[in-house]
Amino acid sequence: MAGAVGKGRVLSVASECVPLLKTGGLADVVGALPKALAGQGWDMRVMMPAYRGLVARLGDATEVWADPGLFGGAARIVAGVVDGTGMLLLDAPHLYDRPGGPYSGPGGDFPDNPERFAALCWAAAVICREGLGDGPGGGWRPDILHVHDWQGGLAPAYLKFGGATGVKSVLTVHNIAFQGMAPAMRIGSLRLPPWEFHAGSLEYYGQISTLKAGLVTADAITTVSPTYAQELMRPEFGMGLQGVIAARAAAVHGILNGIDTGIWNPEAEAVPYGSKTLKHKDMARAALLAEFGLGEVTGPLAIIVSRLTDQKGIDLLPAVLPDFIGAGGGLVVLGSGAPELEAAMRSAQAAHPGRVGLRLGYDEGLSHRMFAGGDAVLVPSRFEPCGLTQMYGLRYGTLPVVASTGGLADTVITANPAALQAGVATGITFHPTDALAFGQALRQLCDLYAQPKVWAALQARAMRQDVSWGASSAAYARLYESLLA
Ligand code: ADP
Ligand code: GLC
Repeated sequence: MAGAVGKGRVLSVASECVPLLKTGGLADVVGALPKALAGQGWDMRVMMPAYRGLVARLGDATEVWADPGLFGGAARIVAGVVDGTGMLLLDAPHLYDRPGGPYSGPGGDFPDNPERFAALCWAAAVICREGLGDGPGGGWRPDILHVHDWQGGLAPAYLKFGGATGVKSVLTVHNIAFQGMAPAMRIGSLRLPPWEFHAGSLEYYGQISTLKAGLVTADAITTVSPTYAQELMRPEFGMGLQGVIAARAAAVHGILNGIDTGIWNPEAEAVPYGSKTLKHKDMARAALLAEFGLGEVTGPLAIIVSRLTDQKGIDLLPAVLPDFIGAGGGLVVLGSGAPELEAAMRSAQAAHPGRVGLRLGYDEGLSHRMFAGGDAVLVPSRFEPCGLTQMYGLRYGTLPVVASTGGLADTVITANPAALQAGVATGITFHPTDALAFGQALRQLCDLYAQPKVWAALQARAMRQDVSWGASSAAYARLYESLLA
């Protein structure tokens, strides 16, 4: 995995990456960026924890770095290639070889999460300073350190506190709701300098925030849409960090995510249909109704594929469903998350037999069949840094009905009369995120669906939108270049 250097080398540091491990859109973005940036001449490698079983999934695994005492145990980095991307897995069994998910086990969140991800960041900072050891691909040393969310936040901090290296750092905020909090007394176990514990640095309301540590030390901050970049500087969205981000406004960049248009491709689905003509999308719809055992749905068949959390506004559904179902609509939901929201979805299904389908759990294949077979995808988020599912919807002619916030506002043009007349609309947006506005949006959805010509024009336009990584990866490339200039 020597890889052409081209424009430069980037070490990407994250807690998840497709295809090795995914709990949300972060993993999609971390997995897609190296491929998109390779096309721009950048050699990006992804470093993440070797959670249980991951090392075995590396092709051609080689040890490229070792540390006998990394946060309480021996650790090594195993390099290999997955789907053409160079991966660096931090194998530290005392931190990562555990049952459960990346952040929690059967007993809830792992209590040593701050140290688990601090170790990842520490190793990343050492690699920036010293490069990887000898051996195949040895000597590799990045020009840019690009870290993601609070799990990567300490890497720019370690880099900066350790003295100049010439390596420039970028922190991408995918979701400000997760701030990586640790009690102040853990400053030593996190290997942080005690004199940095003040309001201008690591301290955040009496605790340590690893996200804040990254925000104050990274050379550049990016977030995943232009609108979220603005929202983050306001109290309603900044979740306490708005002042910290506003103080760094000149270093903040909003770069919209893209989607992998090879993986999300109507022509490659189980019931393939033309990505321009939509021919046979009706067959995908019929197959989806059958899969969920639903009867005939005369109005729009809406889908939701989502984590079931407060962020996603799923709790609004029970209030708006009776009208939507009454107007002929149908709904299929795939998701998992908060027990009370799962229970609310079960009740909704029971209240509308034959019209509401539900699958609780995580199922990548089913999510594809839903985007293919649905008429509309609903994303009623209270906040949404970028959001990927509305872009899958655009690509599949499955029209997005979205709250007007963050990346949702940046990717969907609402079908108001002027936009319809001008021929630019691609979906429906609503504001604020409440049952009244959401209900109105669903009524509008039913009205548009009942006008086949208007509907077909909307679908065709949605499918023409560029949702690929092309423009966005070029924006990251320009940012890296400006940092190295
Ligand atoms: P977030 O990262 O906040 O969850 P995104 O829209 O950025 O939101 O990304 C969510 C990703 O996870 C999408 O790729 C979506 O299709 C996928 N996803 C969410 N829930 C499920 C599920 N239950 N089954 C399959 N895929 C899911
Ligand atoms: C976060 C956000 C989501 C975004 C994803 C990838 O999980 O909640 O809006 O699309 O990260 O950047």
